[in-house]
Amino acid sequence: MPVVIRGIQSSDTKRLSEIEEASFSHPWSEESFKELLTIDYARYLVAEEDGEVVGSAGMRIIAGEGNIDNVVVDEKNRNRGIAGMLIDELIKLGESEGIYDYTLEVRVSNSAAIKVYERAGFKGEGVRPHFYEDPTEDALIMWRRGNEIR
Ligand SMILES: CC(C)(COP(=O)(O)OP(=O)(O)OC[C@H]1O[C@@H](n2cnc3c(N)ncnc32)[C@H](O)[C@@H]1OP(=O)(O)O)[C@@H](O)C(=O)NCCC(=O)NCCS
Repeated sequence: MPVVIRGIQSSDTKRLSEIEEASFSHPWSEESFKELLTIDYARYLVAEEDGEVVGSAGMRIIAGEGNIDNVVVDEKNRNRGIAGMLIDELIKLGESEGIYDYTLEVRVSNSAAIKVYERAGFKGEGVRPHFYEDPTEDALIMWRRGNEIR
């Protein structure tokens, strides 16, 4: 079965918190995902295959810009292009609402994520020192500016 990208539903929150737990040192809880469902400026997508959620990506629309976070793919499904699909769909969704500029932060050592974002048109524009904890690390701030791409 092909991977399907769709909007987050309340039945996804438990599985998403499990993927987070296995992937981040400060994972989002199931409660955080449930809260998202109530925020009208949040847009979250999940990737599903054979009825199982295998990844997610989301953004909050703030001041006309898409602030992307929680890009994650279940470990056994990585390197299949799923994060790329999620980001592309998220941007398509944002553009359909008139959002053309997107930003995100990523650990400077996270080469796989940086590759996904660069492929989607993001460029590093700055570094925020010691932004992350456990372990402490700088964040690369990336932007995808619609007027530079179109
Ligand atoms: C980052 C992450 C979301 C990528 O998901 P994914 O579905 O595997 O991503 P894709 O398959 O679309 O692309 C991965 C790319 O990284 C490359 N890659 C994988 N491991 C790599 C590494 N260690 N160094 C450099 N590149 C790497 C792959 O080759 C692929 O690029 P390619 O298609 O040009 O070959 C996933 O690794 C993940 O969930 N990591 C843990 C959570 C995380 O770090 N999230 C990002 C927070 S900002």
